[in-house]
Amino acid sequence: PSVETPDEGQLFQYHGFWISSFGIKGSLLIHDHFKPRSTDIIVATYPKYGTTWLKAFVFSIINKAPFDFSDHPLHKVNPQDLVPFFEGITCKDGSTSFVDGIPSPRLLSTHLPYSLFPTRMTDDTMACRFLYVCRYPKDVLVSKWHFVNKLRPKKLPPLSLEETFDLFCKGDHILGYWKASVELPKKVLFLKYEDVKKEPLGCVRKVAEFLGVPFTPEEENNEIVEQIVKLCSFESMSNQDVNKLDKRYQQRPVSNSDFFKKGEVGDWVNHLSPEMAEKLDQITEEKLQDTGFNFH
Ligand code: A3P
Repeated sequence: PSVETPDEGQLFQYHGFWISSFGIKGSLLIHDHFKPRSTDIIVATYPKYGTTWLKAFVFSIINKAPFDFSDHPLHKVNPQDLVPFFEGITCKDGSTSFVDGIPSPRLLSTHLPYSLFPTRMTDDTMACRFLYVCRYPKDVLVSKWHFVNKLRPKKLPPLSLEETFDLFCKGDHILGYWKASVELPKKVLFLKYEDVKKEPLGCVRKVAEFLGVPFTPEEENNEIVEQIVKLCSFESMSNQDVNKLDKRYQQRPVSNSDFFKKGEVGDWVNHLSPEMAEKLDQITEEKLQDTGFNFH
């Protein structure tokens, strides 16, 4: 099965994962040429897990000192452009030269599964730091269905929810990162979209601590955590003019506005049939059985 788009081509089965051709090329180049730094920060997700949100949080936490919140880069730039996908850049350049030239600490993002990174990026001594966010599969399916149809060439009919469901149910992205977060808690932070929704302040503090820049008592007094949560909230982000742009640019196959749909937990109830929900729950349960990980 494949999802054809003009820019991303098809999705292929690669080491057991569905990956676009640029993801595969980028992954191979990273494998052979990427020189990791222990200061590298990598936002890792599967599409629709909350990438845009986590990018906004990480960018604003890393840069918390110099920015005035009324004139913040996140008011003018889409988070996707502040934290670039490094397999995408690497594939486009045919080399890691652009990424090599970024000053430390590099803030990058990826949709690649953890197991596709070379051990020099994931072993304990030189490992990069990864921040991962996952999300309830039923909400991801609905979010992805809408998004895939934005990516799809207009000449093709939209993918039905049923077709998307069949493609969606064959894969796992979470467990590699989750196991790594258990084994290397200082190098891999594992978050759940639903927890961030419920406790955004606590999650922002957790991310800051993980990144080695905990909030100082003065920052707490100045309510910097609250300001970051507000700045990165769905309401604030989706209302920025830059994020309302509905035309494609920067060679991305989707528009800025396509990264903001509803931003809620539980939207699946409005779309999935009881049979689909049950089947997906069953698949999820089977995949997670005896792993120690669950969504509750
Ligand atoms: P929905 O389609 O359920 O609305 P990604 O960034 O990985 O592509 O994920 C996109 C999903 O995250 C979309 O979910 C989008 O609305 C939601 N999202 C984007 N920004 C968000 C924010 N600031 N807070 C909460 N959810 C956000």
